[in-house]
Amino acid sequence: MTPRKPESHWKAANGTPLHLRHVAADDGERLRRSLDKLSPEARRQRFLGAVNSISDAFVRDLTDAPRERQCTLLVVRREAGEEIPVAGGRFVIGDTPETADSCEFALTIGDAWQGQGIGRRLLRALIEEAEARGLHRMIGHVLLDNRAMLALARHQHFSIEASPDDAQTRLAILDLPRRKPARRRSPLERLAGLLRKQQR
Ligand SMILES: CC(C)(COP(=O)(O)OP(=O)(O)OC[C@H]1O[C@@H](n2cnc3c(N)ncnc32)[C@H](O)[C@@H]1OP(=O)(O)O)[C@@H](O)C(=O)NCCC(=O)NCCS
Repeated sequence: MTPRKPESHWKAANGTPLHLRHVAADDGERLRRSLDKLSPEARRQRFLGAVNSISDAFVRDLTDAPRERQCTLLVVRREAGEEIPVAGGRFVIGDTPETADSCEFALTIGDAWQGQGIGRRLLRALIEEAEARGLHRMIGHVLLDNRAMLALARHQHFSIEASPDDAQTRLAILDLPRRKPARRRSPLERLAGLLRKQQR
């Protein structure tokens, strides 16, 4: 499968240049360093419960899992020529015949970088990638007290539903492809339509 390139460059609120790209095979060490800096609260929200340390297996899966099965995007900044991940987003495609056309997503924005639109960018990029791959549904598990993630999902037109497995969690669900909003007609087009009607 030829990977698409949802690349983009922009500047954070404090002027830092940021770059969104696919994860690469040699990102493991960088990811480990950034994940180890996450606050206990960010970890709790990301992993839906208290997590002391993030396992090597988790980090390895981020870099090594086959692209056919998942999509992992990073937002990185540069310092002294080195890339430093500040955020990441991922979806993993279901592995049963019933779930093969849907995926589960999660986002992680470094504490210092939250509230600057990075989550919104990452989620949009994941939605576009899932759509391009012909997937029909995206699902995210979100803690009930995660106001930021629930707001972000709602703004991207996810529906928020109760989770059958856990009263403390909500499911954010988006059916794909998204319906295109009807194009608004220009005043000139509306006038032309009115005139046509009158001539009938
Ligand atoms: C939740 C999280 C992904 C949001 O990403 P972010 O980059 O901080 O959010 P953004 O700046 O892109 O804001 C996105 C939207 O959420 C809203 N939002 C952000 N923080 C909010 C808060 N604390 N309360 C309510 N709404 C909030 C913003 O108003 C924004 O709305 P808009 O789309 O209309 O502009 C991020 O804070 C995070 O990684 N938290 C820790 C891990 C986590 O919760 N992961 C989610 C598990 S799926």
